[in-house]
Amino acid sequence: MSGESTYQPNNGFTKWMDTRLPLLRLAHDSFVDYPTPKNLNYWWTFGGILTFCLVTQIITGIILAMHYTPHVDHAFNSVEHIMRNVNHGWLIRYIHANGASMFFLAVYIHIFRGMYYGSYKAPREVLWILGVIIYLLMMAAAFMGYVLPWGQMSLWGATVITNLFGAIPLVGDSIATWLWGGFSVDNPTLNRFFSLHYLIPFLIFGVVILHIWALHVPGNNNPVGISVKSEQDTVPFHPYYTVKDGFALVVFMILFSYFVFFAPNVLGHADNYIPANPLVTPAHIVPEWYLLPFYAILRAVPDKLGGVIAMVGAIFILFVLPWLDTSKIRSARYRPLFKQFFLIFVVNCLVLGYLGAMPAEGVYITLARICTIYYFAHFLIILPLLGLVEKPMEIPESISASILPETAASPAE
Ligand code: HEM
Repeated sequence: MSGESTYQPNNGFTKWMDTRLPLLRLAHDSFVDYPTPKNLNYWWTFGGILTFCLVTQIITGIILAMHYTPHVDHAFNSVEHIMRNVNHGWLIRYIHANGASMFFLAVYIHIFRGMYYGSYKAPREVLWILGVIIYLLMMAAAFMGYVLPWGQMSLWGATVITNLFGAIPLVGDSIATWLWGGFSVDNPTLNRFFSLHYLIPFLIFGVVILHIWALHVPGNNNPVGISVKSEQDTVPFHPYYTVKDGFALVVFMILFSYFVFFAPNVLGHADNYIPANPLVTPAHIVPEWYLLPFYAILRAVPDKLGGVIAMVGAIFILFVLPWLDTSKIRSARYRPLFKQFFLIFVVNCLVLGYLGAMPAEGVYITLARICTIYYFAHFLIILPLLGLVEKPMEIPESISASILPETAASPAE
């Protein structure tokens, strides 16, 4: 798919460099002349948007770290210092805090796009698995980042989640103590979370490089899900997709700016503007919106260990998704039944998110149990069976044939 390199070094320096470390050749073959299916729609722009989000988080994070103090007596005040005294500190902090939400919004769209168009199927399983690893690392980074301002939700969110390790039989309590660096979430915990929160984005960066490498070996999937058959099916990445990705990025940045400049706190929790107090437990301890579906699954199971297993299982099941889906057809466009179930699955995830924000009682808990069961049934029952019983629609011959009007299939003259 990648084919021969078309790179031509055109001056003395680039020729010299090309025989020593052909970085420019790699960049040219990967992002300029890279043959890309010509029918990619706007759902394919989110990979580029995610790269932008990652770089934004790293740059703003490094600047925040210059002014932040990871100590229980100073953390909260150092964040207020950033907001009030540091030049443009408010802007950098709001970009970083809302940037996390925008990053998750983009990654959810990216994941659901992959599910709809069957991008996880052979030969892209490794690409998908690397994506799931990135997603896990993102959740760890976001969770630890939320602890750093040392507000009430920071302390109590960290307490709820780290206490889950206590549910593991025999060694659970020792693991929790080891994670805390003491007997509760306290200064050593804050310190190590800061250290890891700084480290993880760079790990993500490394896995993203592997992710894009694993994309460029088989090449992109596309909305019809059939493989590229001839040169006619592709266009060079530049200028076609650099321009399309650039336009989508600008639209995305408008939404991002709306939150940063007009509603910088709506996605956060008011309690995190109260300094952490180990003696006062907030009425409702809730994670950030992007973790709510998993929080709902955790609380849906009456037993603590069972809840932890269900929550972890809900994420880890994504690793084996390529082998649970038995259909040979990639794109939902040609799978009438799967299309319906995909929609129900998306709604189910949204409802789980809503339930995660509600108190774990009465009708909410009943609904959360139904949605949790459905979540697992989608992967373990519906997907394996659908591939066997569904009658897919007729697949076009090629990408070109799928977009050109029928008459154009015959010779023009
Ligand atoms: C920091 C986070 C991530 C970055 C920067 C990233 C980057 C990219 C880029 C640049 C592409 C190619 C353009 C596109 O298809 O949109 C891509 C494709 C893909 N990504 Fe990601 N990704 C991330 C997270 C994930 C996650 C969490 C998953 C799944 C769990 C995932 C699964 C995929 C798949 C399956 C493709 C192939 C798409 C296709 O050709 O159909 N990615 N990614």
